[in-house]
Amino acid sequence: MTSASISRSRPPATGEPAGAAGAASPVLGAAEFNAIAAIMQSDARIHLSEAKTTLVHSRLSRRLREHGLAEFRDYVRLVQSDAEERAAMVVALTTNHTHFFRESHHFDHFRATAMPWLQQRARSAPVRIWSAGCSSGEEVHSIAMCLLGESRQVPGWLRSADLRLLATDIAPHVVESTSRGIYSASTVEPVPASYRDAWMRKMGADYQMAAEARALVTARVLNLFDPWPMRQSYDVIFCRNVMIYFDDRAKAELEARFVELLAPGGYLYIGHSERLIGPAAARMQACGHTIYQKAAT
Ligand SMILES: C[S@@+](CC[C@H](N)C(=O)[O-])C[C@H]1O[C@@H](n2cnc3c(N)ncnc32)[C@H](O)[C@@H]1O
Repeated sequence: MTSASISRSRPPATGEPAGAAGAASPVLGAAEFNAIAAIMQSDARIHLSEAKTTLVHSRLSRRLREHGLAEFRDYVRLVQSDAEERAAMVVALTTNHTHFFRESHHFDHFRATAMPWLQQRARSAPVRIWSAGCSSGEEVHSIAMCLLGESRQVPGWLRSADLRLLATDIAPHVVESTSRGIYSASTVEPVPASYRDAWMRKMGADYQMAAEARALVTARVLNLFDPWPMRQSYDVIFCRNVMIYFDDRAKAELEARFVELLAPGGYLYIGHSERLIGPAAARMQACGHTIYQKAAT
């Protein structure tokens, strides 16, 4: 898979990231990198190219230290025999970058087009929204604030609706953050003041999502490639900046499952650099940049 290795036995090359070489840095050779990449592929379907060697080295060096291991060779042996550490390694190699109202055109579309449809549906049916690959919850709480609106009053339609937001991620620590809904002042900066004033409460130097927002959200650990727990169709799915980490086969498989889960007329929002491939593309209609709707039939 790769011929690259990051070694402690050579001086850092020009432009090489700090810490990639030097006396204290363990060796990440091609064999170890390939073994780690194979686990990521089989457990999370995350594709690690050779370009990720430095990232793997820096993220896992800490785990080596925690286990008192000097060599990646020993760490690979550990993850091959210890399921708990194997899961911890997968989590350590996920990228959890996110922010409130990321890709704001999705929220403009959600408010203007999806929400009127959801309000209509809520009169006679449960409404279900999924943030798949939710990271620390900024995405699902942005959706919640759109639904709650800009005044401190929960809108009447929402009070009487059976509406739930499901937020899932493979990484337990970010799922925990989603449940807590506590964010630093700098994290909250992208939130429009009207939403912040209505649905976030000051908590020391931080902010916590108001109880009304948290009450809408259920956060769970879920590997997207495991069986899904849902027993009913979903009206809206956000799966943004998650599929970029998967290979085409995994993307096509996942997208087909999303389309299957969506109710007719339901919406799928994907990340700015992503696109639908495989059978899902034929069953969904583009209705904005990286926004798709399932045919109403
Ligand atoms: C870059 S974040 C995206 C967060 C948010 N959706 C956004 O767009 O801001 C990607 C998230 O996908 C999660 N993830 C990666 N592989 C996954 C898998 N196989 N199953 C579930 N979640 C996964 C990661 O843990 C990470 O939190």
